[in-house]
Amino acid sequence: MQRVFSGVQPSGALHVGNYLGAIRQWAIDQHRADSFYCVVDLHGLTAEHDPADLRQRTLETAIGLLAAGLDPDVCTLFVQSHVHEHAELTWLLECTATVGELSRMIQFKEKGDGRESVRAGLFTYPVLMAADILLYDADRVPVGDDQRQHVELTRDVARRFNSRYGETFVIPEAAVPKVAARVMDLQHPERKMSKSVDSPLGTVSILDPPDVVARKVAKAVTDTDGEMRYDPEAKPGLSNLIELLASATGRSIDDIVGSYDRYGPLKADASEALVSVLAPVRARYEEIASEREHVVSALEKGADKARSVASLTLRKAQEKIGLLVPGTF
Ligand code: AMP
Ligand code: TRP
Repeated sequence: MQRVFSGVQPSGALHVGNYLGAIRQWAIDQHRADSFYCVVDLHGLTAEHDPADLRQRTLETAIGLLAAGLDPDVCTLFVQSHVHEHAELTWLLECTATVGELSRMIQFKEKGDGRESVRAGLFTYPVLMAADILLYDADRVPVGDDQRQHVELTRDVARRFNSRYGETFVIPEAAVPKVAARVMDLQHPERKMSKSVDSPLGTVSILDPPDVVARKVAKAVTDTDGEMRYDPEAKPGLSNLIELLASATGRSIDDIVGSYDRYGPLKADASEALVSVLAPVRARYEEIASEREHVVSALEKGADKARSVASLTLRKAQEKIGLLVPGTF
């Protein structure tokens, strides 16, 4: 059976980019593969954060994932810091990855912006992500387009470790959706929708009520030439709406482009489609949030399961790299 691993940062409310770009696929994959999904709270330490907030958002993110359809009896859902093997394998991989390759990471260049005050953890962040994936022998990593380069790095590091120290890690592959792999901010369609950027009108949360979704989509920035065409470079706002509608309904981009000649009706249909995709998620969220103790115990069970897999891989990596692992000498 295939192994799937993916993670999400507890950096704010989940949005439709997270849902359509990644999490919806996780809910499907859990029935097809042995799936591990993780709220990556250690990654959440790489940017300015408030400790109490981080704890709260970690729990809310887990509730969001359950609301989005993850079933803790079917997949393994856990919090990254509950499984100490993630931090430990990271060190071995930091001694495998190079400063050169980490310097080429687009996300670091964008978020770090050349500032000296940026946390060192933001620089090594992709190595922690590589550890997440490699600990579980994952074959597939369902993510949005922005994580492609990090999965590529994971493959390079795993290959290097294997060839230097002997077969240890499975080489994973990124699985990126054909549409909605990079959902853009509705107000600033030249940048991606993001949890950590404050753009109240540009970001649609998975918990936004229907009237709020409708207002945000109606106000989405498009362009003035009025030409119905899918062209993310020249017409990013319109193309984003087309992708959202395609992803939420399963219709093809060509079909959508051929069925509208004005932006208004396209916006109306996109907002209706988003509302119906999000309705069950919103309904489940309230229900799950009211049973907090169930969530906590699901996460504990998830961490136990995750640990049982991760500890074996860590031990193997420690032996291969030359550590004096107790019980093996
Ligand atoms: P993050 O919010 O960065 O923790 O992302 C969690 C998952 O959602 C990752 O697989 C991302 O690639 C994906 N994702 C984040 N933002 C977007 C977006 N705007 N469009 C599509 N996928 C996204
Ligand atoms: N870096 C990812 C993001 O910001 C989150 C993440 C951490 C992840 N570890 C992972 C995604 C492992 C996939 C696999 O979206």
